[in-house]
Amino acid sequence: MKTNKNKVVIITGASSGIGKACAEEYAKQGANLVLVARNETLLDSICQQLEKTYSIKALAVKADVSLESDCKKIVSQALITFGKIDVLINNAGISMRALFLDLDLVVLKNLMDVNFWGTVYCTKYALPEIIKSGGSIVGVSSIAGYRGLPGRTGYSASKFAMNGFMESLRTELLPTNVHVMLACPGFTTSNIRVAALSKDASPHGETSMEEGKMMSAEEVARRIVAGITARKRSLIMTNQGKLAVWVNKLFPALADRLVFKHFTKEKNPLIK
Ligand SMILES: NC(=O)c1ccc[n+]([C@@H]2O[C@H](COP(=O)([O-])OP(=O)(O)OC[C@H]3O[C@@H](n4cnc5c(N)ncnc54)[C@H](OP(=O)(O)O)[C@@H]3O)[C@@H](O)[C@H]2O)c1
Repeated sequence: MKTNKNKVVIITGASSGIGKACAEEYAKQGANLVLVARNETLLDSICQQLEKTYSIKALAVKADVSLESDCKKIVSQALITFGKIDVLINNAGISMRALFLDLDLVVLKNLMDVNFWGTVYCTKYALPEIIKSGGSIVGVSSIAGYRGLPGRTGYSASKFAMNGFMESLRTELLPTNVHVMLACPGFTTSNIRVAALSKDASPHGETSMEEGKMMSAEEVARRIVAGITARKRSLIMTNQGKLAVWVNKLFPALADRLVFKHFTKEKNPLIK
């Protein structure tokens, strides 16, 4: 049986939601962790709790993944502490909620900087080590990376870019033993909609959806870690997500109308 004991796993965006839950899932399985986010206080307390509960080592690295120098630092600190990297989970991400017509373009730039460039920078610096270990590079993307969503132009663009980047990379790496996986959760309970950027780049401050009806971050994390361990190519985690990808491929004009209708049902809808 494959085991994650003593694997070294870098997780970006580990202070909250899916990233935090992935950290706990790997800790349960005996992996050592490099946890990354901007909120150092939260990261430190998560690392201490995981070390105490699961007798593993967890290193907190305060970093903003939109900065190339910070991503270089994540990899160098991981190597100084653990001497190898087995898995990189590019999970740090932000969302948005505004119509493109009203949007300050700085929002779109921020989304690309964190979601796309953050993935590119971390992958660039970790790749030589992951080639050595024959490990995994993971992108936590979204159904929004297969099907554009209204009010989320920058989010969808950043996730489409991420999907294309990961697919190209996987193909380039076929002669190596590196595993590349795209994980696309459906709507998941987390802080993402509260932190989402409004039209002027200020945080939205509240969720626009029924968080209680969504998949939990813990369930998403169990599926991501199982998918990495089984070296799956991609994960689309909900029936709604599978249907959206399928309908969009076969009947794109119908998908436009269905997606439009879905988003008219948000709280305080942007489109009516
Ligand atoms: N929740 C969903 O419905 C859903 C669905 C599909 C895909 N996803 C994807 O899942 C991933 C995780 O999202 P989540 O739902 O768990 O959201 P979340 O609870 O808001 O967590 C986002 C994480 O990203 C970190 N982060 C944000 N900007 C960062 C930056 N510049 N540098 C470093 N870390 C940064 C945040 O930490 P700090 O603020 O401390 O930096 C936090 O730890 C995202 O890529 C998201 O697109 C989420």
